[in-house]
Amino acid sequence: APSDPDLVGRARAARERLGSRLFVLGHHYQRDEVIQFADVTGDSFKLAREAAARPEAEYIVFCGVHFMAESADILTNDSQQVILPDLAAGCSMADMATAEQVAEAWDVLTDAGVAGSTVPVTYMNSSADIKAFTGRHGGTVCTSSNARRALTWAFAQAGENGKVLFLPDQHLGRNTALRDLGMAPEDCVVYNPHRPGGGLTPEELRRAKMILWRGHCSVHGRFSLDSVTEVRARIPGVNVLVHPECRQEVVAAADHVGSTEHIIRLLDEAPAGSRWAVGTELNLVRRLAARYAPQGKEIVFLDRTVCFCSTMNRIDLPHLVWALESLADGKVVNRITVDPETAHFARVALDRMLALP
Ligand code: 13P
Ligand code: SF4
Repeated sequence: APSDPDLVGRARAARERLGSRLFVLGHHYQRDEVIQFADVTGDSFKLAREAAARPEAEYIVFCGVHFMAESADILTNDSQQVILPDLAAGCSMADMATAEQVAEAWDVLTDAGVAGSTVPVTYMNSSADIKAFTGRHGGTVCTSSNARRALTWAFAQAGENGKVLFLPDQHLGRNTALRDLGMAPEDCVVYNPHRPGGGLTPEELRRAKMILWRGHCSVHGRFSLDSVTEVRARIPGVNVLVHPECRQEVVAAADHVGSTEHIIRLLDEAPAGSRWAVGTELNLVRRLAARYAPQGKEIVFLDRTVCFCSTMNRIDLPHLVWALESLADGKVVNRITVDPETAHFARVALDRMLALP
């Protein structure tokens, strides 16, 4: 639906009043009505770098979800303020690993005698607490665009017979281990935080190379092997392109896998007349379909029964206008802050990611 012209005018006016004091970041999964106001759009890796590279902006309005705004707060300086237009914009995957659960898991690994040879790697989609845990234990953050490099680095750190504890997305962890590091399915075990001992025996922990946290994305987890089979039958010659948060059997059946930035690049470079079925968040797929239709590229959503990411969608134009107008009136709303100690160790893990070779 087209954006409400009154709200568009108000957002423009508030932006004008704020001038260079404001910088707006927009994740690719945001609504069209919001993304039009982003100074920069990107995947979570690019947005983290952009946040760190804007020391002159007093206010960073983050159109994305809570863990992204937390990371931006950690990567910006003390005088900068990060604002999330709707505080209810969380991430169900990030919520699947709490600090208490991860501390308990580390105790389980310690009791099994494997903590000393395990390096934690956490996906960006995790709370600042989990990033801080990772930083404290010699690990790094990763995103979907650098998971391979992060895991390669972590295994080098872990040494011979070393392991990685991958948090919280089991699918990104497994897909990267199998596709990029050449591991076998039996090298991976799944740690279930709701079962005593993670549901694993000490022997299973000792044998594993990848200890995958039992978390997943509620959006990408809905694409199935049937989605792929059905679209191939419906659209002859279709290229199937999916995000690595999809389940392993979906990724194995796809033609291409990549982060949101990678997906955009592939479609940008695709020849006219090519046909694509894309398995990632619907706002982005719809936008790409509209952008590339005039060039004769046909882009469809991989499975029509899968919905938007409901928390990404919480950032809508009314919330953005409210945040911008409040800032323009000198009132800071919905500021996201991370306490200094957590921020320090989370930054250690984020800096390791930013320095990956
Ligand atoms: P990327 O932007 O890193 O591809 O992440 C996708 C995602 O699910 C963000 O919530
Ligand atoms: Fe979280 Fe998935 Fe939504 Fe990304 S798409 S914010 S991983 S629930």
